[in-house]
Amino acid sequence: MATVDTTAPVARPPERSGNPLRRVGGDLWDEWRGRGRFPPGDTDFSWARTHQIAHDPLPLLLDAYERYGPVFSLRLLHSRVVFMLGPEANHFVTVGHPENFHWRESSFGDLIPLLGDGLLTVDEDYHDRARAIMMPAFHREQVAVAAEAMTIEADRAIAALPAGEVVDVYEWMRNLAMRIAMRALLGLDPDEAGKGAAAAHHFERALGYYGIDFGLRLLRGPGSPWRRLVASREVLDEIVFAEIARRRAQPDPGRRDILSLLCGARGAAGEEFSDREIRDQVMTLMFAGHDTSTSTLTFMLHELGRHPEATRRLHEEQDRVLGGETPTPQQLEREMPYLETVLDEVLRLYPPAWIGPRRVIREFEFGGCTVPRGAYLNYCSWASHRLPEVFPQPEAFIPERFARERKAALPRGAYVPFGGGSRICIGKRFGQTEVKLVATKLLQRLRLESLPGRTMTIRQMPTLSPRGGLRMRVEDRTS
Ligand code: HEM
Repeated sequence: MATVDTTAPVARPPERSGNPLRRVGGDLWDEWRGRGRFPPGDTDFSWARTHQIAHDPLPLLLDAYERYGPVFSLRLLHSRVVFMLGPEANHFVTVGHPENFHWRESSFGDLIPLLGDGLLTVDEDYHDRARAIMMPAFHREQVAVAAEAMTIEADRAIAALPAGEVVDVYEWMRNLAMRIAMRALLGLDPDEAGKGAAAAHHFERALGYYGIDFGLRLLRGPGSPWRRLVASREVLDEIVFAEIARRRAQPDPGRRDILSLLCGARGAAGEEFSDREIRDQVMTLMFAGHDTSTSTLTFMLHELGRHPEATRRLHEEQDRVLGGETPTPQQLEREMPYLETVLDEVLRLYPPAWIGPRRVIREFEFGGCTVPRGAYLNYCSWASHRLPEVFPQPEAFIPERFARERKAALPRGAYVPFGGGSRICIGKRFGQTEVKLVATKLLQRLRLESLPGRTMTIRQMPTLSPRGGLRMRVEDRTS
């Protein structure tokens, strides 16, 4: 990133048509143009396959990998979509040849109406310049400041957990992660009606649009999910633009929330983000950082509920290192290696951002196959993390496989819960600190038990989460 010239003028990314018919037409045209040059696969039209990819994609992808190898095509709805799985494929897409791909024209382009032109949905120079300006806001010292907000909110949320009762830990963490985001990203008080509380409510409401079936997302009439998204976006815009104006009118170097940092951030030639750029970046951060941390903590509690020995080792480690005190970010990062392996293993089994959506902008070859320009393409951490030749006993929860030397011996591209290369998750340290901090504080006081006879199924849109939440019994740690 250090080599990016942030002084050079960069063009705004092109608008994408929101008209579904125009998109389908464009997709068919792109496929026709690339005919004869797609990797092999299951390319007949199939409702069953389209339904399965939206509801239970893992077996489908692993089966296709066995039959076709690391690069294959599947027809989903009207489109022939290319998947690339496994260490080499992940490395090729994220690190080796990112110049072959765009994110903006990917199948996740639907996010643009909410997120605008934030880091996730832009490419090339526009992306690299914005990322270079934003990086300092995610350095270790800034995450340490955010950890103060995380601690305040975690203490409050844990105190409200009733021992002896059953709670939906997914819902609980979702609330907590949203409150942390309000404070640490937007600098808002999550209890202030009209601001923090309203922003949280409308952000959740807008996100709801991306959790519903594709067909419903195409509706545009009054009362449709689309209209709800647009209405909530308007309220969010009002709140965020007012906050930007306030920060600009009364700059306060004491404010360390990310919105304030972005208002003061400068590129190499002293240029600053416009109000609209800041708005788009913070919306993107809210989107990318909220569901991911929520799901990671929930899946961690799920696995710990099933593995008392791992919980015992975590207790032993935290008692030894912390002696009952609140952990510092440095302790979480450097002094609690078992916690690190548990988090790594949870993110292997359940990487919340399970798919890396791209559009091919330059024809290329991989694994003996051509992939034509215009193809929709995804790399997939979830399926890649379940390949038995890379992770033996892939279904089993074995934190020890991430002990330092064993992790270092993994092939490059094997483990990609945070992506890689120039688009690697900018909030990686923030997210890791949040999950570790909340988990540690929770386990210092409480024990969460799985309910007998309950199985968890996974929903994967837009990120992996337990379908219908995750109910667990709360007990005092010592009981
Ligand atoms: C456990 C938590 C998290 C996980 C597993 C995760 C995972 C990921 C992954 C896999 C990507 C790359 C996607 C791709 O290649 O298409 C990504 C990108 C991104 N993440 Fe995260 N993320 C997490 C937390 C966060 C947090 C807390 C924030 C912000 C506060 C954040 C902000 C972003 C942004 C802005 C990008 C786009 C980066 C770019 O394209 O330059 N993430 N994340």
